[in-house]
Amino acid sequence: MGNRLCGAAMDDGTAVRGVVTDQAPARHAANAAALEKDLQWLSQVIEARVRRGQGSSTGKDIWDIPAPRFNGEESLYSSFLRHYEMSAEERLAVLLALAPHVRPETLDGLFHANEQLGRGHTEFGGIQGRMHGGFLPTGETLLFLLAGNDLTRRFACQRIFDRDHFFARHNILRLETAPAGEPMMSGQLVLADEIVDFVTGGELRKPDFSRDFPAKLITTEMSWEDLVLAPGTLDQIKELEAWIKFEPVLMNDWGLERRLRPGYRCLFHGPPGTGKTLTATVIGKRLNLDVYRVALSSVISKYIGETEKNLERIFGRAENMRCILFFDEADALFGKRTTVSDAHDRYANQEVSYLLQRIEDFAGVVILASNFIGNMDEAFMRRFQAAVHFPMPNVEERHRLWRDSLSKKCLLEKGLKLDELSCRYELSGGAIMNVVRYASLMALAEGSNVIRHCELMNGIRRELQKDGKTI
Ligand SMILES: Nc1ncnc2c1ncn2[C@@H]1O[C@H](COP(=O)(O)OP(=O)(O)O)[C@@H](O)[C@H]1O
Ligand SMILES: [Mg+2]
Repeated sequence: MGNRLCGAAMDDGTAVRGVVTDQAPARHAANAAALEKDLQWLSQVIEARVRRGQGSSTGKDIWDIPAPRFNGEESLYSSFLRHYEMSAEERLAVLLALAPHVRPETLDGLFHANEQLGRGHTEFGGIQGRMHGGFLPTGETLLFLLAGNDLTRRFACQRIFDRDHFFARHNILRLETAPAGEPMMSGQLVLADEIVDFVTGGELRKPDFSRDFPAKLITTEMSWEDLVLAPGTLDQIKELEAWIKFEPVLMNDWGLERRLRPGYRCLFHGPPGTGKTLTATVIGKRLNLDVYRVALSSVISKYIGETEKNLERIFGRAENMRCILFFDEADALFGKRTTVSDAHDRYANQEVSYLLQRIEDFAGVVILASNFIGNMDEAFMRRFQAAVHFPMPNVEERHRLWRDSLSKKCLLEKGLKLDELSCRYELSGGAIMNVVRYASLMALAEGSNVIRHCELMNGIRRELQKDGKTI
């Protein structure tokens, strides 16, 4: 129960990610069959409730209508219900929110007008979408369905929307915020996109970078063997990998769940171009996890309060996706935790505190990358499991970087020695890549495959100039 849906394999052992496409039809069919039954049930419950609401004493009590059983028929939908050990109320809540996505006409009965008033029944709640033609359920709709006009029951059912209910904690089902001054329950009942995807098509759609999800999926063609890291850095990266691999065993089987905070928070720090981003993407690739990069500068908004909303979008969605959140340009944070000088700074501090708190509460893997570590205080560091230093590469590492990055198709001009270059110029992996690109392009432009000494030197000079150095 403590696990996120997608944080672990499902009960039947199917991994949530990496659904093989040729198994998709089977998954679709299984979900469809299960949902067919459940939507039928929802439909009967709605009918019974509406009838009762209209004062019919002959109608069935909704709880007399048995919830369908899945006799050994496995689907992602049924394992989702089982994973969270959902009660009939919770299951109806999910179905109600799902209906507009899969069979909107199920809710048509709720459009039924109140003959005395000549308008819809207030107790049915619901709103009309801007493009969706059907009935969109609200919190009111759900409470009406579950409790009718029984207030005691209504209050009990409202617990579904509590902050500590697994619906909220795992970002499964939520109420949209109602406009100021209107009852909370008039907010729309919304099932998270990932859950809709999961219980229908059976695949998790990758979110696009958008206003709703200001994070970008980053990938690499490079692999573990291409990484040139100092031994100390490598050891810490292995520890992070071990956590990702063995977290479920450690927490569940070994029972450390009660004592350890879920998730892993890690800081990558070191000069630009030393492979922080690359390492994060390679880890993701190796462990089959998506890596989402969030540029903190773009999230930290100059509008007070907006930052929290932006961050909430990211964490909320990421909660249901098995992924690594990579917060880049984290220096933007540290600068702001200094002494407060004006009102805006004070808010910046609050935003930083909020981010840190949210990182701490997040049950997945978070990597913060920064070019400095100097001005980070202890309170800050205590929240992280590891601070991994990415130093500038040493001579041997630079030699490897030079060797590995030059194309096998090109030749070096006579007398050009990579070991000498490595020895003489203290460049990061990123800078070496830039020089290689420049010198290779110059060769190609001349119709040659020979990397010339003078072009390499030009490239190196340009890189050193960026750091204010000269040759
Ligand atoms: N340690 C490294 N090993 C291999 N290649 C590296 C390394 N560091 C940098 N590079 C090369 O430089 C590029 C930029 O590095 P990047 O990961 O963006 O650095 P950072 O995030 O630390 O600024 C990488 O894509 C890679 O081609
Ligand atoms: Mg980077």
